[in-house]
Amino acid sequence: MSDITITTLDKMKQQGEKITVLTSYDASFTRLIEDAGVEVLLVGDSLGMVIQGQDSTLPVRVDEVVYHTQNVARGRQSALMIADMPFMSYSSAAQALDTAGRLMKEGGAHMVKLEGGATQLETVRHLVAHAVPVCAHLGLLPQSVHKLGGYKVQGRDDEAAGIMQEDAMALQEAGAQMLVLECVPAVLAGKISRMLKIPVIGIGAGAECDGQVLVLYDMLGIASGYLPRFVKNFLADTGTIQEALAAYVRAVKDGSFPEAEHSF
Ligand code: KIV
Repeated sequence: MSDITITTLDKMKQQGEKITVLTSYDASFTRLIEDAGVEVLLVGDSLGMVIQGQDSTLPVRVDEVVYHTQNVARGRQSALMIADMPFMSYSSAAQALDTAGRLMKEGGAHMVKLEGGATQLETVRHLVAHAVPVCAHLGLLPQSVHKLGGYKVQGRDDEAAGIMQEDAMALQEAGAQMLVLECVPAVLAGKISRMLKIPVIGIGAGAECDGQVLVLYDMLGIASGYLPRFVKNFLADTGTIQEALAAYVRAVKDGSFPEAEHSF
């Protein structure tokens, strides 16, 4: 199968075909995820919580994301592979370029993801000018959990919703080629998805986004601790991991996931 690129994903958006994304952290799961038909693998800094047992993503180090990206790259067949830039690894444009360089050169990532809106525009422009494809991330920013005062839905009032729309547009203009929206009211996420040309991937952001992402261990029901409302356990109704992954892909593609109960 030929490689899935950002061009493939742009075409899927134009044609109204939903994009499926899952986090992955190792070679074995990567093979199963791709066999199920997932187009994009995200080596998320959620690895801090689900692999390392940390209580947030903040302690995750660049070396650790590089290591997991290398493992995912070994299991990868054709999916697009995105690696997360960890907390405090992109505090300036120059530092971001160093981090992105490591994730792409040592890890083999095709794109890097960073959290934030207006404050990240200069960094996004700098990365893009150096041929680094960028996925932006708005809404609930897990790396800002202490600033936000918890894992809460973002963009609920008119002012916050307006700022998020402006940020989304500005990130696209700065050169971001994909956007993740996390914990955002479904109506707002739908509006942003229609407004932007680039693919918008939702997590807790309703069914109208161009695609969906979940943390692998959450959708298999094997993560310990609190599970956000937007998560569905796909292993509960199926017998095997392979069937759970296939059920996720089917549900995203036919629009039956997320349902209202997984949205805000
Ligand atoms: O780190 C991660 O897994 C993520 C997803 C929740 C989008 O950023």
